[in-house]
Amino acid sequence: MLKVAVLVSGGGTNLAAILDAVKDGTITNARVEAVISNNPNAYALERAAKRGIAHACISPKSFESRERFNRALLDKLKELEPDLIVLAGFLVVIPPEVIAAFRNRIINIHPSLIPAFCGKGYYGLKVHEGVLSRGAKVTGATVHFVDEGTDTGPILLQKAVAVEETDTPETLQRRVMEQAEWKILPEAIHLIANGRVRIADGRAVVLPDGE
Ligand code: GAR
Repeated sequence: MLKVAVLVSGGGTNLAAILDAVKDGTITNARVEAVISNNPNAYALERAAKRGIAHACISPKSFESRERFNRALLDKLKELEPDLIVLAGFLVVIPPEVIAAFRNRIINIHPSLIPAFCGKGYYGLKVHEGVLSRGAKVTGATVHFVDEGTDTGPILLQKAVAVEETDTPETLQRRVMEQAEWKILPEAIHLIANGRVRIADGRAVVLPDGE
């Protein structure tokens, strides 16, 4: 059984999609052990509480330096000993020491088709604003492994979503979530939990079922 820690910053709709998928059997061999937020007001924390899942807030604001915050986050994760860390709308840069301690065991959902509209400054609604101002006709979401760069780790899953002429950043964000994020993030966890993902030469490969 894969032990999963989910890191969040906001509304937690991706967290809800993961918990629903565990409950209805879309994800097998995995359980969400804990939810950690950097933001004490994240609705995601309430979602975790309502479902009886252990949750904690580790806010950079409660520490006198970034180094202390990074240390506290690493200590918490080491205490939890997760097999997989899922960044589900976690808008804090993951400290290098966390990446090193959990190499190839951290995945992130990003709301575009990487390598488009990603990297520094592209998060949340800003991604969709970028897509609309560039006039892109197709966007989507990506699940990737986390390395030391911003959105540069091996791509695991992607799903395309059409951009409509009448979209606002908000309507596009919602469609990308509904049609892509809430599907591929649970799917990625399911694949990893069932031993179907290998990373070789900087690329993530999905193995066929039953191999
Ligand atoms: C999601 O759209 C996720 O892809 C995005 O934040 C949102 C969180 O929503 N993440 C990033 O932009 C990371 N660069 P949620 O809290 O409702 O899951």
